[in-house]
Amino acid sequence: MGDTLGEIDLVNPDNYVERVPFEWFDHLREDHPVVWHPEPEPNGGFWAITRYDDLTAVHMDWETYSSELGAVGLEELDPEQLAIRRSMLETDPPRHTELRKICSKRFSARGVGKYEDWIRDVARGVLDQALAKGELDFVSEISRELPIRFLCSIFTVPQDDAPELIAWGDQMIANQDPDLSAAVVDKVDTEEYRLLPFRSPTALKVFAYADRQRDLRLEEPDDDVIQALTIAQSEGVLDEREFHNYFALLMIAGNETTRHTISHGMLALMERPDQLELLRDEPERIATATEEILRWATPVFHFRRTATRDTELHGQRIRAGDKVVTWYVSANHDPEVFPDPYSFDVTRTPNDHVTFGPGGPHFCLGAHLARLETKILFQELIPRLDSIELTGPVERIRSNFVNGVKRMPVRVTTR
Ligand code: HEM
Repeated sequence: MGDTLGEIDLVNPDNYVERVPFEWFDHLREDHPVVWHPEPEPNGGFWAITRYDDLTAVHMDWETYSSELGAVGLEELDPEQLAIRRSMLETDPPRHTELRKICSKRFSARGVGKYEDWIRDVARGVLDQALAKGELDFVSEISRELPIRFLCSIFTVPQDDAPELIAWGDQMIANQDPDLSAAVVDKVDTEEYRLLPFRSPTALKVFAYADRQRDLRLEEPDDDVIQALTIAQSEGVLDEREFHNYFALLMIAGNETTRHTISHGMLALMERPDQLELLRDEPERIATATEEILRWATPVFHFRRTATRDTELHGQRIRAGDKVVTWYVSANHDPEVFPDPYSFDVTRTPNDHVTFGPGGPHFCLGAHLARLETKILFQELIPRLDSIELTGPVERIRSNFVNGVKRMPVRVTTR
């Protein structure tokens, strides 16, 4: 990997299976905050951005650092792939602003606040079933169940559809882990799926589901997110492909991310009984704790941009066309911003983490929803717990993109 990087390899998904290689990020942040990182063919390499301030500068300056040539993952896309797979994530203003506006009110604090009671009911139902088992895999019984069930409430689709939607979401995003997807991008030939999001054949099932939901809204209008997308398509704001990609984005973006936040949060609390005790004694702290859980979890390691012109960042010359990868997982542990960054402190304030992005046009549309879901889950879970402990190894997802927990066996006693 060259002299500067030494053994550091941020690309190989195997390097995230045991644990996040935090010492590599510490080293880069300290000594090489903007560094060229080579990549195996067919990709051409990228600038790795590891400091909080530099990452923020990149995200704020969308004219210099465009999303149009890709935003998610490291895969470099040709113009045909880009055109067909494009969602709002891979779009710059002003088109991005139009796309975002279709749903932005529904995802505002007020918009998602309306669903608070539903979300709480879903959380209670899932916890009732899961905790009654005593011994369970926390991921499959709790973290994995909740986000799509929450989304079913907001999309007003039947809860009975949840298992299928959860499986589709898993297959699409975890495309580097053979345990979760048959089409593992760096292991098998996925050429025939190159025009589908995440190169995943499952996208076709998601698109067909979106069509059925749209047709139902056309017969009988509803007041939900899918209705907003249906109207946008009827009015020509979205073409069919954009409708599909929008639907798939909403389904995927809020699925694994929220799941891993919940798992990492529970793991951190299990490993620090004093913090769990504090939240049990003073549940009013759970809102503040949610921010620390989000920082700690950083479920998305990075996003990416492409330079539109020659520019300079932290003394490095970045050329037009260069890929620029912003590592949230590193910025969230930047000691300049977070004192004692490797301590999990549920009372930490301020806590301006970049788990949803640092701001700028692409700041996570679902941030209010994800915060609400995480807060409600821990508000419902913590008072019920008498004891909770690990009964086996915690297994992580093989991915250089999602910081994911695959299995977390626990024994629980309830009050
Ligand atoms: C803990 C959970 C979540 C995390 C960590 C997360 C993280 C992110 C990040 C890092 C971005 C890109 C930010 C940037 O480029 O500056 C993003 C964008 C996005 N997220 Fe989330 N997200 C979460 C939950 C959700 C949920 C629940 C939804 C909706 C159902 C959602 C929908 C979106 C959408 C639509 C975008 C694209 C926004 C745009 O391009 O304008 N996310 N998210």
